[in-house]
Amino acid sequence: MSNPVPNPEPPDFDGSFQSDFLELIRWRRDVRRFRRDGLAEGTLERLISVAALAPSVGNSQPWRFVMVRDGARRTAIRDEFQRCNARALENYEGERARLYAGLKLSGMDDAPEHLAVFCDEETTAGQGLGSGTMPETLRYSVVGAIQTLWLAARAEGIGLGWVSILDPAEVTRILDVPENWTFIGYLCIGYPEEEHLDPELERVGWQQRVAQSTFVLKR
Ligand SMILES: Cc1cc2nc3c(=O)[nH]c(=O)nc-3n(C[C@H](O)[C@H](O)[C@H](O)COP(=O)(O)O)c2cc1C
Repeated sequence: MSNPVPNPEPPDFDGSFQSDFLELIRWRRDVRRFRRDGLAEGTLERLISVAALAPSVGNSQPWRFVMVRDGARRTAIRDEFQRCNARALENYEGERARLYAGLKLSGMDDAPEHLAVFCDEETTAGQGLGSGTMPETLRYSVVGAIQTLWLAARAEGIGLGWVSILDPAEVTRILDVPENWTFIGYLCIGYPEEEHLDPELERVGWQQRVAQSTFVLKR
């Protein structure tokens, strides 16, 4: 057993911090329009280390990150997105189809950083605690890490866009990662071209926010 670190004084998260934190959450946004200038060296690595502070079932830390820097692999992922997006369009008809066809659903062409995130389904870290009855909690843990990274990036003025319109098996093949890693999300990261308080899908009339009363039950 390693010795625990002596507990330092906890910070005082005062009212001003709390309201700033709320603003960060309100302004987070999924970003699909990126400036092409890159992040300062080491920024992505630093954001990944912040993501790794997220909670995880059994402290299993099952997140696995792939920085996609190779041009050929990026092109293959972009082609895969276009193929999946074209198939997705076939699920809509009429006005919905017209609206869908006009959506920008990936910032891959401009984002300077591409980060694929996976879950190691066979990690021995955590010794199975908490995931025996719910193996999916490993994946939930990875999603928590992505959200942590998302907020940390936004706090530095960096935008992130999550792309899920991809075939996980193809992403696994293109990026040549172990078979026991489950694909969770493909993240485009860079400085946003524009800032918005409202989600793009609301702005373009695809989906408005749903009233809270429809998803909270009291028992
Ligand atoms: C699991 C997940 C997958 C997503 N996949 C995509 C995607 O493939 N393409 C896209 O444009 N946005 C994607 N998004 C972003 C959502 O469209 C966005 O979060 C939502 O419209 C609300 O907008 P906001 O994030 O700006 O608040 C995804 C978000 C999540 C959480």
